[in-house]
Amino acid sequence: MERKPLISGNWKMHHNHFEAIQMVQKLSYILNPQDYEKVDVSVHPPFTDLRSIQTVIESDQMSIKLGAQNCHWEEKGAFTGEVSTAMLEKLNVSFVIVGHSERRELFGETDAEVNKKVKAVLKSGMTPIMCCGETAEEREAQKTEEKVKTQIESGLSGLKGEVVGEIVVAYEPIWAIGTGLTATPEDAQSVCGLIRETIKAKWGQASESVRIQYGGSVKSGNCPDLMRQPDIDGALVGGASLDPDEFARIVNYRLVG
Ligand code: PGA
Repeated sequence: MERKPLISGNWKMHHNHFEAIQMVQKLSYILNPQDYEKVDVSVHPPFTDLRSIQTVIESDQMSIKLGAQNCHWEEKGAFTGEVSTAMLEKLNVSFVIVGHSERRELFGETDAEVNKKVKAVLKSGMTPIMCCGETAEEREAQKTEEKVKTQIESGLSGLKGEVVGEIVVAYEPIWAIGTGLTATPEDAQSVCGLIRETIKAKWGQASESVRIQYGGSVKSGNCPDLMRQPDIDGALVGGASLDPDEFARIVNYRLVG
């Protein structure tokens, strides 16, 4: 089955709204209309930038999709500092990253919370990008398979197959994030293949349409080989997405490789 690749830029806690506007304008200037026919492109700025970027995207009719980096699972309430999916939906956000390893490791997010967030994002009509991946220690202890399988099964628990088929999963080995170390294309393929198998075993057909991104020190140089792997359908890019020229080269990975 043909799956349209999704290249997503996770800006993390970088760029105020003025800088973010410049970034997205530059990116849109570099990319051509044909690029979006081959690849879906999303940018995930901090919450404070979302309204500004939404306005720029809509007024200039850009094909770049707006994404968020996190959300809360409740629609509203006494949750100081949190942002609901209903609020994101109102800003025409298309994709929400859920369960990024930095959220899990630094802010103690659990698989059960990730599952609630995935469901909230879907309920608001947006697409979750659910992250999974192992630490260096887990990898050394040969626990990658077990960890990733658990994260997938718990994170997607309670969802119907037709819904799972529409979501995005990002495999991000934690040891490769922001370190300059990338999983080899073969290693990345092997875990992304395992993710698809795990989904197939529980949700059948959904495994054919679900998009699986690789993330962890993706750059224009390593992207083509990663994207050539049969079970890798895109990239979740951190550091390299902060440079519009480099991010555009990643979007156009076919021209580099
Ligand atoms: P990186 O981050 O590309 O800087 O390694 C990826 C991510 O955390 O999504």
